[in-house]
Amino acid sequence: MAGRHRICVIPGDGVGAEVIPQALRVLDAAAAACGFGLEFDQRPWGSAYFREHCLMMPPDAAQVVADADATLFGAVGSPDVPDAITAWGLILSLRQQLELYLNLRPVRAVPGAAGGFAMLIVRENTEGEYVGTGGRLYAGTDSETATHTSVFTRRGIERAVDYAFRAVPEGGLLTSVTKSNALPHTMGLWDEVTAEVAARHPDTRWERMHVDAVAYQMVRAPERFDVLVASNLFGDILSDLGAGLQGTLGLAASGNVNPQSGVGIFEPIHGSAPDIAGRGVANPLGAINSAAMLLDHIGRADAAELVRAAVDATLSARITPADLGGRHSTREMGDAVLERMA
Ligand code: IPM
Ligand code: MG
Repeated sequence: MAGRHRICVIPGDGVGAEVIPQALRVLDAAAAACGFGLEFDQRPWGSAYFREHCLMMPPDAAQVVADADATLFGAVGSPDVPDAITAWGLILSLRQQLELYLNLRPVRAVPGAAGGFAMLIVRENTEGEYVGTGGRLYAGTDSETATHTSVFTRRGIERAVDYAFRAVPEGGLLTSVTKSNALPHTMGLWDEVTAEVAARHPDTRWERMHVDAVAYQMVRAPERFDVLVASNLFGDILSDLGAGLQGTLGLAASGNVNPQSGVGIFEPIHGSAPDIAGRGVANPLGAINSAAMLLDHIGRADAAELVRAAVDATLSARITPADLGGRHSTREMGDAVLERMA
């Protein structure tokens, strides 16, 4: 199947700029092997852009992302720019502006490691604890007061939960993650809507579990989970826990998607890691795994499979970077994946 896809590429800050080039080499090789073309539209958005323009990205950035067939994103965050500016100035804004209401975060045991588990965390991605409404009163006085309001809508919960139900494999289990004992207003609505959605999927087994219990069970018995659906903040936290179960943040991939518009931004879940940036030792497999998710999104499942199999073969051969105890550089990890794709 010939054809060309336009991919917007935002390497961003820190190790983002080191891991993304390896993912692009892999994407090129996968496209060549499967007989289609990729065109990369690289955008220099991030903290360096901010120092020059006082903005993390230009005002038309969301349009640029929407016009591409998919976007590959690295990381943002820089020691000299406040975190809230780097986060809200780029990735969190794009998620909201483009209504990328699902954040899909697969977690699975590393090939060759003990314990078999595979789960998908479906994180609600545009509302909940992240909406950003709130503020500070009486700043700098003894009465200083901060508020940050969560916003949960029936529509927002419904579409995330419905997607999660549909993602459950045959015979699998859906776990709805809340904390409605302590947060009965917002999480109570979540539970109600989930029960309604569940009624539309009578053949799918499901449960609801409080987030603290989920954290415990993910460590104790990760194999009991198949698909989890969680609010923005809970999904954020649990996906780092999932990465920890895999042994490193360096492998974990994600996709921010809106299935209706077809817009998708794919990114490793690790951050910009300023402590190791510039040394060429960051693990590019999270970015490469994200590139595989991007290939699925643009309808190139064969190419996605080729990439995933090569990543698995690399890990099975115990070729690892520093975060997994090995000594292979970022580029050598890219080389190893490319060799196994050939
Ligand atoms: C993630 C990150 C972001 C988030 C940060 C950078 C704002 O932790 O994608 O998981 O909290 O969503
Ligand atoms: Mg996170």
